[in-house]
Amino acid sequence: MCYAIPGRVENLEGKIAIIDYFGEQKKAYNEIDKLKIGDYVYAQGGYVIERLSKEKALSTLQVWKETFFELQEKDLLLSKMQFENKNLDKRLLRILDKVSQNLSVSQEDYLDLLKRNNPNELNLIYKTANFIRHKNFGNACCVHGIIELSNQCARNCQYCGISVYNENLVRYKMLEEEILETAEMAIKTYGFKALVLQSGQDAYSVDELFKIIKKIKEKFAVLIFISVGEIGKPGLEKLYEAGARGVLLRFETSNSILFEKMHPGYKLETRVQELKNAYKMGYLILTGGLIGLPGQTEEDILNDIFLAKSLNAEMFSFGPFVPHPKTPLGKAISPTSQFMMKVLAVARFIDQDMAKILITTAFETIDKTAREEGLLSGANSVMLNVTPKEYKEQYTIYPNRAYLNKPVLEQIQETISLLQNIGRSPTDLGLGESSYDIEALK
Ligand code: 5AD
Repeated sequence: MCYAIPGRVENLEGKIAIIDYFGEQKKAYNEIDKLKIGDYVYAQGGYVIERLSKEKALSTLQVWKETFFELQEKDLLLSKMQFENKNLDKRLLRILDKVSQNLSVSQEDYLDLLKRNNPNELNLIYKTANFIRHKNFGNACCVHGIIELSNQCARNCQYCGISVYNENLVRYKMLEEEILETAEMAIKTYGFKALVLQSGQDAYSVDELFKIIKKIKEKFAVLIFISVGEIGKPGLEKLYEAGARGVLLRFETSNSILFEKMHPGYKLETRVQELKNAYKMGYLILTGGLIGLPGQTEEDILNDIFLAKSLNAEMFSFGPFVPHPKTPLGKAISPTSQFMMKVLAVARFIDQDMAKILITTAFETIDKTAREEGLLSGANSVMLNVTPKEYKEQYTIYPNRAYLNKPVLEQIQETISLLQNIGRSPTDLGLGESSYDIEALK
C-alpha cells in the first residue's frame, strides 16, 4: 500500500526500496534508474513510479503533514470495537472473537455470518470488519481511475449488457489519441496515479494495446492495470513489456458449472489459469466475482472469496449482479444491499491483511449509501470513472450506473469529502493541477 504523497527513500535492498511516509515505512519495487537513498518518490501498488525534486516533495509534505495525522486519528476513533450490547447471541460473539484474533474459522461459521439478518448483529459484524481493516491497512484508501476504452465485445456473458446479446447498442472504440488525451487529463489534471484501462473482449488487438500502454508510460508516471478480458500468456507478456503492471479480471464465479452456464462455450479453468499466469509474470491481481447470480449459493460465494485469496489478489472486486433487460438474465433480480455488505465483511475476515476491498459502482448503483457503509465495513478502495461522458453512456454493462452524469471533478470532490469524514487518506490520487483542495481535508 502506498500513499499518494511523496515518500523518502530510506533504504535500497536490490530492487526493493524502503520508503518513509511521516515515520511509517513501506516497501516498493523500484524500476527507476539510479534511485538513491534520500530521493523523494511517488510509489503506487508496490511500485516506485516517479522521482520528484526535494523542493517539490517537501512543499507537498508540508501541506499534508497535519492532515495526515488528523485523518489517522479520526479513523482510529471510528474503527474501535464496542461490545456494549450484552444481549448478543453467544455463537456470534464466539465467531467474531475468533475472527478478530485471526484464528481459523470454519466454513459453517462463515455461512452463519452470511445468514444473519438482525440489525444489531449485522452492525457488530460490520464493525469487526472495520476494526480488522484498520488494524492491517491503516487509514489508506485506494482511489483508482478507470477509462472504459471500448464497449465492443466478442463474448456471450449471459448477464452483461455489452455482450453480443445487446444487438442495438451503439458500439464505440476510443482512438489512440482520445485515450492518450483522457489519460493525460486523468493523470495531470486530476492527479490519478493508477489507471485501469477496460474494454470488452477483443475490442483491441494486443498490438494496439501495446502501443497505447507504451505511449502512456512514456509520457506519464502512472501505474497501469489492464482489464480487457482474456489475452493469453503471450498477450500478458507483451503488455507487461509495454509497462502494464496490474490485471483486473474477474473469474465471475468459482462454481465451474455455473461459470459455463453464464459463459456458454467457455471454461472457468482458462480464466483461472490466465490469472495465475499474470501473477507469475509479476502483475498485481485484481479479481473477484458477481454476487447474486441466479443459481448461486452462499457456499459458492464463500468459495469465490477463497479463490480470490488463493490467486494472491492485491484487490478484491466483488459486485452485485444487476439485471440488464437486453440480456438472457434480464428478468433475474439483484441481491440486497445488506447481503452485499455481509459478503464484503466476510471477505475482510477471510483475507485480513493482503487484499484491498473495492466498493464497486454496481454496489453503489443498487444502494446510494454503499460507498460510506462499505468503507466502514472492511472495504478500502474505490474506483472513479474518467471515461469521456459520451462513451460512458454507452458502456452499459448494466442499466442506470451510479455517477453516470457526474463530472470527474465532482466525483473527486465528493470522494475526498467522504474520505475526510471517515478519516481516510486517499492513495493513488495525488494533487493534480485542478483535482481537489487539500484544505478541504482539514
Ligand atoms: N451486473 C453487474 N456487473 C456486471 N458485469 C457485467 N455485467 C454485469 C451486470 N449485469 C461486470 C462483470 C465484469 C465487469 C467488467 O462488469 O463482472 O467482469
